[in-house]
Amino acid sequence: MALTGTKKMLEMAYKNGYAIGAFNVNNMEITQGIIAAVAEEKAPLILQVSRGARAYASIGYLKAIINVAVEENPEIPIAIHLDHGDSFETCKQFVDDGFTSVMIDASKQAFDENVRVSREVVEYAHARDVCVEAELGQLGGIEEDVGGVSADDVSKYLTDPDQAVEFVEKTRCDSLAVACGTSHGAFKFKSEPKLAFDVIEEIGRRLPGFPLVMHGSSSVLQEFKDLINNYGGDMPDAMGVPESAIARASKMAICKVNIDTDLRMALTAKIREVFAKEPAEFDPRKYLGPGREAIKDMVKHKLQILGCAGKASECM
Ligand code: 13P
Repeated sequence: MALTGTKKMLEMAYKNGYAIGAFNVNNMEITQGIIAAVAEEKAPLILQVSRGARAYASIGYLKAIINVAVEENPEIPIAIHLDHGDSFETCKQFVDDGFTSVMIDASKQAFDENVRVSREVVEYAHARDVCVEAELGQLGGIEEDVGGVSADDVSKYLTDPDQAVEFVEKTRCDSLAVACGTSHGAFKFKSEPKLAFDVIEEIGRRLPGFPLVMHGSSSVLQEFKDLINNYGGDMPDAMGVPESAIARASKMAICKVNIDTDLRMALTAKIREVFAKEPAEFDPRKYLGPGREAIKDMVKHKLQILGCAGKASECM
């Protein structure tokens, strides 16, 4: 059973007004929770692996886990994507490892250098039938070693629509991650954020048919924050991206929505709950199992928000 190309999924999402959930995976339980959700909701799926995930789990283990998921779910289109490739060499490595798409994130470089590196990755990847996401503009927050601008400054670093057109023409990337007011990580905003829908709309208008990507899209769900804090954790009060904003963006040119923090929080919340309620428990299955279940339920809900539930067959 084969992986499905990322490009086809993004095309269908664009055409039919929804977004594909791109979920970060680091281990078996997270992957299984996500897979169980898309299987029940009959949704297309992009599984993303970061450099940090590769360093933690090793690519062999991650690919083996994903291969099982693909084989066991032939009716679900599954793509695998490198999240935040930092250089040509990293992207090349993931292309050579059989990923269906890679992201080159040179967004902190000057425009011309971002174009140059992104173009280099596009040339290598396209020759091997792999599609490329690039990034223009800067997000807030921090994600693994990918630091962004301060959350208070997010609105100053939004993607410029004029530059976006020039960037896509010059690089020939297949999708573009845009800065539209979101932020990576669990500590995004002090109050409810306003996404720059005008920026998404304007870039969408200038690049018809072209899929955009929204990073930093976790909602930092209160339910999990409460569980973490009630059971010995210490997460400051912070807000994520409201689900209503994700739903609205998903109907626009945003075709891929990246979610990592909400997965981490779901798993951690359930593990903390078991540890607190059953302090004598030491069987990992007894706390990783509930964590996996919480991920499944949370992802099922996200698939409804993104509008991609029930869309598996059209993306095959
Ligand atoms: P979150 O931290 O909001 O989950 O964003 C993840 C992400 O954008 C991965 O690229």
